Amino acid sequence: MQIHPANRISEVKEYYFSKKLREIDQMRQQGIDIINLGIGNPDRPPHPEVLKELYNSSSELGNHGYQSYIGVPELRNAFAQWYKAHFKVTLNPASEILPLIGSKEGIMHISMAFLNPGDEVLVPNPGYPTYASVSNLVEAKMISYDLEEEQDWQPDFDKLEAMDLSKVKLMWVNYPNMPTGANATPELLEKLVRFGKKHNILICNDNPYSFILNDNPLSIFRVEGAKETCIELNSLSKSHNMAGWRVGMVAAAPELIQYIIRVKSNVDSGMFKPLQLAAAKALSLDKDWYTEVNRAYKERRELAWKIMDMLGCSYSKNQSGMFIWAKIPDSAESPEQLTDAVLKNARVFITPGSIFGKGGNRHIRISLCSTTAVLNESIQRISNS
Ligand SMILES: Cc1ncc(COP(=O)(O)O)c(C=O)c1O
Repeated sequence: MQIHPANRISEVKEYYFSKKLREIDQMRQQGIDIINLGIGNPDRPPHPEVLKELYNSSSELGNHGYQSYIGVPELRNAFAQWYKAHFKVTLNPASEILPLIGSKEGIMHISMAFLNPGDEVLVPNPGYPTYASVSNLVEAKMISYDLEEEQDWQPDFDKLEAMDLSKVKLMWVNYPNMPTGANATPELLEKLVRFGKKHNILICNDNPYSFILNDNPLSIFRVEGAKETCIELNSLSKSHNMAGWRVGMVAAAPELIQYIIRVKSNVDSGMFKPLQLAAAKALSLDKDWYTEVNRAYKERRELAWKIMDMLGCSYSKNQSGMFIWAKIPDSAESPEQLTDAVLKNARVFITPGSIFGKGGNRHIRISLCSTTAVLNESIQRISNS
């Protein structure tokens, strides 16, 4: 073949789950029935009122054309009210909020908007793999910073301060953290804002898990002066069971939003209007919605803990987000060895922590996005294997 890919993808591998799901599909085609406890894909539907809004507005003939690049005002207003109601943060819907096709695309747009080739980016380890792969795609230099269990998986600011930060332009942070389930504290957010201001680093807080098993959703914009140096991503994927809808947002100071629009408006042509109106409806749901979402996750969490106990893993019971992150026993060679054995012998797929960086080299992760029946079946299979 004489057609070669661009150099920028040489460092970027196919997304782990994209490869693993293909493998699982092949096993299923061979008649092997696999339970997938790997991926954080909410299995429950959105609120019925959200579906009704989607249906009703899809029935209106005028709602099928291209939409504005910056989202319909109803959605931007709904995001602003959601931030006010749940995070006690004021955002100007006209200038400080940009709806996104999921927060994942925001990681790309932000990187395209702010990073030149060679600029350095601080990426958490362990962390969401997209931060590293997108940094590679834009030819920035990834500098990983360790999150350690002994420090509640929070950045070690002494270590960061000891680094040469002169070329660092941007830092990814994500609390409630995936994969570790650690939560932010107001003090941590304050430290991040101070760190960003001191070193002229754009702090990007990726916040899609704020409502899952978390009684106190926090936004980095609660910190005084955060808009000078921070960006925040949020999403309806997890909080409203709408992962496949692809609705998220970025919040930032107007100048920063304008830079991101320069990229985004050249990449896509807006979101389907009924979907935006239905997302606005979802954002207006009251506290009962979140209580019910979390009731299900709490019930499932008990069973995921049981699986971790059966595998000899240790874990904190104080995790937020839709996963359980646990340390494998000393007797296990590696997380892959453990998860491959469970896949082979029990036909249950669990994620090895090493896919999130070397900080996950002794950990595994179970998703809470399966019913209690499926989790109970997994327990049966593992105990019979
Ligand atoms: C930490 C983190 N950020 C962002 C995303 C992307 O979410 P979205 O569905 O909003 O694109 C995920 C999805 O798994 C995630 O775990």
